[in-house]
Amino acid sequence: MRLQDKVAIVTGAGSGMGRSIALRYAKEGAKLVVADLNLAAAQTVVDEIRDAGGEAIAIEVDVSDRVRAQSMVDAAAHAFGKLDVLVNSAGVGNIIPFLDTTEEDWDFVFDINCKGVLWCSQAAARRMIEQGRGGKIINLASQAGRRGEALVLAYCASKACVISMTQSMALALAPYQINVNAIAPGVVDTPFWDRVDAQFATLLGLERGEPKRRAVAAIPLGRIEQPEDVTGAAVFLASSDSDYMTQQTLNVDGGNWPG
Ligand SMILES: NC(=O)c1ccc[n+]([C@@H]2O[C@H](COP(=O)([O-])OP(=O)(O)OC[C@H]3O[C@@H](n4cnc5c(N)ncnc54)[C@H](O)[C@@H]3O)[C@@H](O)[C@H]2O)c1
Repeated sequence: MRLQDKVAIVTGAGSGMGRSIALRYAKEGAKLVVADLNLAAAQTVVDEIRDAGGEAIAIEVDVSDRVRAQSMVDAAAHAFGKLDVLVNSAGVGNIIPFLDTTEEDWDFVFDINCKGVLWCSQAAARRMIEQGRGGKIINLASQAGRRGEALVLAYCASKACVISMTQSMALALAPYQINVNAIAPGVVDTPFWDRVDAQFATLLGLERGEPKRRAVAAIPLGRIEQPEDVTGAAVFLASSDSDYMTQQTLNVDGGNWPG
């Protein structure tokens, strides 16, 4: 087991990739804080972990709220005595054309995707620095952060921001042996892409499912990404195997982005 006795917080762990990462970390021996805006969903994941013999607690958090992000880290330390790993997976995205993007649309995406990463990472990093044993912070970026899209301005910008924040946080935390890296997934089969598909379909006048079909047809590896596909990279970035790696964003996207 590669994460034996590590304590990890995963935000957005009630669904999609956050859920898969939490389940995989538990299998690798970690104790989990399953954090989500949706407490019932987080509790279901905790039940799955406990049923499999693991240790986990559920915490309700809105990552865009600095005080609640701090409470989440305090609760983790209270439950398990320490914190080794933070995965920032909570995220949202809407398909809105550039000219129609409102201040509300922009703030909604940036408050959760960017401020959320900032508050959760600050709180976790302070705890890790105090412990003096290093740590790992892993952010869920996106292929959307590598390029622009006419209908996805705010989301693409927010994920470019996550890639940039990963670099700055890595440099700020390097003296404390806290590694900060990110994963950039592609088109992942989660409730997130179901919402994206519906929004694209409405905007482009397509049948539901057609936007996803077209996006998947363009993936070099020829299939949609499953949430489990990011868990290998997430374990690597949380384990000592990545101790000499920081500031990086790993593309785990079926070959969609060449860089
Ligand atoms: N699905 C994709 O194709 C895809 C691709 C690249 C990157 N991503 C990114 O990966 C991450 C996970 O995406 P997913 O597809 O698993 O999404 P998902 O919608 O399946 O899960 C996201 C979870 O985040 C939670 N959440 C939303 N707002 C929150 C908040 N303010 N505070 C705490 N929790 C909150 C939701 O309740 C949900 O459980 C996101 O950051 C997303 O932007 C997704």
